[in-house]
Amino acid sequence: MKVIRTIPEIREQVAALRRNGSVGLVTTMGALHRGHMALVEAAVAGHESVVATIFVNPTQFGNPSDLETYPKTEDADLALLRDAGVSAVFMPSATEMYPEGDETIVETTDLANRLHGKVRPGHFRGVATVVAKLFNIIGADAAYFGQKDYQQLAVIRRMVRDLHFPLEIIGVETVRDSDGLALSSRNVRLSDAERSAAPILNRALMQAEATIGAGGTVEEAVASIRAVIGTEAFADLQAVDVVDALTFRPINGKPDAKIGVMISALFGEVLLIDQREITP
Ligand code: PAF
Repeated sequence: MKVIRTIPEIREQVAALRRNGSVGLVTTMGALHRGHMALVEAAVAGHESVVATIFVNPTQFGNPSDLETYPKTEDADLALLRDAGVSAVFMPSATEMYPEGDETIVETTDLANRLHGKVRPGHFRGVATVVAKLFNIIGADAAYFGQKDYQQLAVIRRMVRDLHFPLEIIGVETVRDSDGLALSSRNVRLSDAERSAAPILNRALMQAEATIGAGGTVEEAVASIRAVIGTEAFADLQAVDVVDALTFRPINGKPDAKIGVMISALFGEVLLIDQREITP
């Protein structure tokens, strides 16, 4: 497995890999866990070669302390990627990605600023900008993203459609711990008490699914989420959003097509998100 830090070298490497067949891409910010490895496994199964990227993207962090404290586990990450059969890892510096005088941004202007984007202004602009750069640099046939970051996946799909990027976006199901907590690099920052409280997010989503399954409305599902989260003192609910899974527009009443339910809550200083698609 090659570890590459510059754009000309990764382009040369991908050109060589292309001669063996298709190339899959998994973009990450490192601190890899089983959730990332599910993306890598799906990519390895679908392509002759897989390129992974590790870059903690400064433009998607609103809070500087979140960026500074973002976990860095480079050696362990590289060992996991090597064992999983990744061909090359691109680990650029911030100046390689954002050269002096960089001023170009990519933004899905509506989708980026609604829902979770309202809680984290500028976040999805930073994500879309760095992902567009990575797509241009790597030139893969397909890229794999977790469904847990539901709005991120929607933003990336829309950007790819609108800007005609010639690659397929594949969403991979959320990987959970045995108690239901969705895996996230942020989980390591939870105290023991916060970690024990965090599976409440999944339980709240299960309750919403049961409510919709029993013929309930979106409003009833949201109320059931608030009630479940309200039982957990360590959870400070930030947002609950219910959208049409295809259009990503907020919906009300009794759903008649697949919906996406997104929640975010603070556990101490750590913001966790979770999501579920529900077919009524
Ligand atoms: O999901 C992530 O880890 C990041 O948002 C991504 C897609 C790698 C962009 O920095």
